[in-house]
Amino acid sequence: MRKKLLSSLLVTAMAVTMLAGCGSNGGQQASTPATENKTETSAEAKTDDTAGTTTTEGGKIGVAMPTKDLQRWNQDGTNMEAQLKEAGYEVDLQYASNDIPTQVSQIENMINSGCQMLVIASIDGDSLGTVLEQAKEKDIPVIAYDRLIMDSEAVSYYATFDNYKVGQMQGQYIVDALDLENAEGPFNIELVTGAPDDNNVNFFFGGAMDVLQPYIDSGKLVVPSGQTEKAQCATANWSTEEAQKRFENMISAVGYGPNGVKLDAVLCSNDSTSYGVQNALQAAGYTADNMPIITGQDCDKPNVKNIVSGLQSMSVFKDTRTLAEKVVGMVDAIMKGTEPEINDTETYDNGTGVIPSYLCDPVVVTVDNYK
Ligand code: BGC
Repeated sequence: MRKKLLSSLLVTAMAVTMLAGCGSNGGQQASTPATENKTETSAEAKTDDTAGTTTTEGGKIGVAMPTKDLQRWNQDGTNMEAQLKEAGYEVDLQYASNDIPTQVSQIENMINSGCQMLVIASIDGDSLGTVLEQAKEKDIPVIAYDRLIMDSEAVSYYATFDNYKVGQMQGQYIVDALDLENAEGPFNIELVTGAPDDNNVNFFFGGAMDVLQPYIDSGKLVVPSGQTEKAQCATANWSTEEAQKRFENMISAVGYGPNGVKLDAVLCSNDSTSYGVQNALQAAGYTADNMPIITGQDCDKPNVKNIVSGLQSMSVFKDTRTLAEKVVGMVDAIMKGTEPEINDTETYDNGTGVIPSYLCDPVVVTVDNYK
């Protein structure tokens, strides 16, 4: 940890000395990535009150987001861009259509076009090692945003929500809703999580299973499909369609239905997968009146509508404005050669050591508090 902090501060000092020269690198042209290319390169000009002249403060920050498909990443990108500009930085914001080569080439462009720092929400946490070696060679600090980037020495800091807590909240919601402490059961449950290459899945699924496993072990909860391993419950790219397909197959294999095998709860790690499960259940005849307990995460608008109409039981709200605020604070501290605010130095080891992290607090949302 100490090694990380020290090397970050060293990198910081270098980044600060690089500032003046960086803009001049901007003329270097790199190939434009495929779709969802949104580049904002207008330098934010600020008036220097004392001198009465206009100066460009800050420097250029590259912000790489995975996709525009999900509401949350659009909000993350918008918040980061607005708050970085407000703090006096120029922003290169890119979305990569959940396509790994696109994200790699966007990051390469950022490195070659004079970005002094990179903030990256990875598509696949294991695929950025090579491109980030270039960042390390150029002493460009990297902040992993929401998802940890694995096996890369280039990552200086990590900012996210308390992902283990998110999983625990989902598991605990099911325990309380079924009153597992007192009810006799057994109850039928199925498990759905997200992309296997997203490190967060280990924490979401791990947190939820730490709460649910004792009830599975005691027989109070039963998983009729038999699919309890993380790999069996994973959903490529967190795709709604994939989650829906897997659940349709499960419904016919197990015989779930309003007049068939009773399904009491579905653990879903996020809203996009939860939506797919709800589609499959509705197609099998379930309505708001007889839906099982279904969890989610993100408070995406269609899911909040379903919480209100009774199709989904809960979601977990993660205020992306707070996350952006913390990350912009980190960027600013590193650029100014001071120590960023962190509140966790134990949990997130990316394979090269523990990455100093800031974990924001998630909040459970139900029909009672969604407003
Ligand atoms: C994020 C979740 C999101 C999921 C799918 C995860 O890494 O933490 O908020 O629902 O990715 O995009």
